[in-house]
Amino acid sequence: MLVRPATPADLPAVLAIVNREIREGVAHFGLREHTLTELEPWLANHPRLPFLVAPGPAGGVLGYARAGRWKDREAYDWATEVGVYVRPDAQGRGVGKALYQVLIPSLVALGYRSIIAGIALPNPASVRLHEAFGMRHLGDFHKVGYKHGQWIDVGYWELTVGEGPPAAISLPSSS
Ligand SMILES: CC(C)(COP(=O)(O)OP(=O)(O)OC[C@H]1O[C@@H](n2cnc3c(N)ncnc32)[C@H](O)[C@@H]1OP(=O)(O)O)[C@@H](O)C(=O)NCCC(=O)NCCS
Repeated sequence: MLVRPATPADLPAVLAIVNREIREGVAHFGLREHTLTELEPWLANHPRLPFLVAPGPAGGVLGYARAGRWKDREAYDWATEVGVYVRPDAQGRGVGKALYQVLIPSLVALGYRSIIAGIALPNPASVRLHEAFGMRHLGDFHKVGYKHGQWIDVGYWELTVGEGPPAAISLPSSS
């Protein structure tokens, strides 16, 4: 399955995926739908924070995955939080896995030492996906979200990579 960096033309399809999850799901803790303008920095943050899509065979986007900063302060430069969303009609067909097969090695190549995922629980597909990529369950925060009339726990998974001080890395010159 093809996975490639997102382009401006993908943003409307990505917006539809994330806004559906905001409206109907609990995996995304947003309560207000995003706008296209809010997604543009996701592209601008390339290549340090990859933003990938799996295009559909007939166009559109089946799913996307991206990396964000774990926290803002500079010492956190080598920690990243990942997120992945697949269109409901494409779930369970290997799209999430295909996205992570590109995303996780890209993050390792970028020199990240800690790759973190927060998963609103329960979410067996997401747990399975993250553990398939070597991520280890650290623990859960309880009742940290309230959505659709229920309190939601969030579990944290982590993959740590490498030893010693951060490596000097050369970033790709374009997306
Ligand atoms: C979670 C999600 C990203 C997984 O992507 P996907 O394309 O559906 O998953 P894949 O088909 O690539 O399967 C990945 C693994 O999960 C397993 N899996 C898939 N659906 C499953 C389910 N409903 N229950 C248990 N395991 C499941 C697969 O068997 C596979 O494991 P394997 O490698 O051992 O075979 C996707 O279902 C999704 O977008 N869900 C809604 C949003 C969401 O929860 N995002 C994650 C936020 S942390």
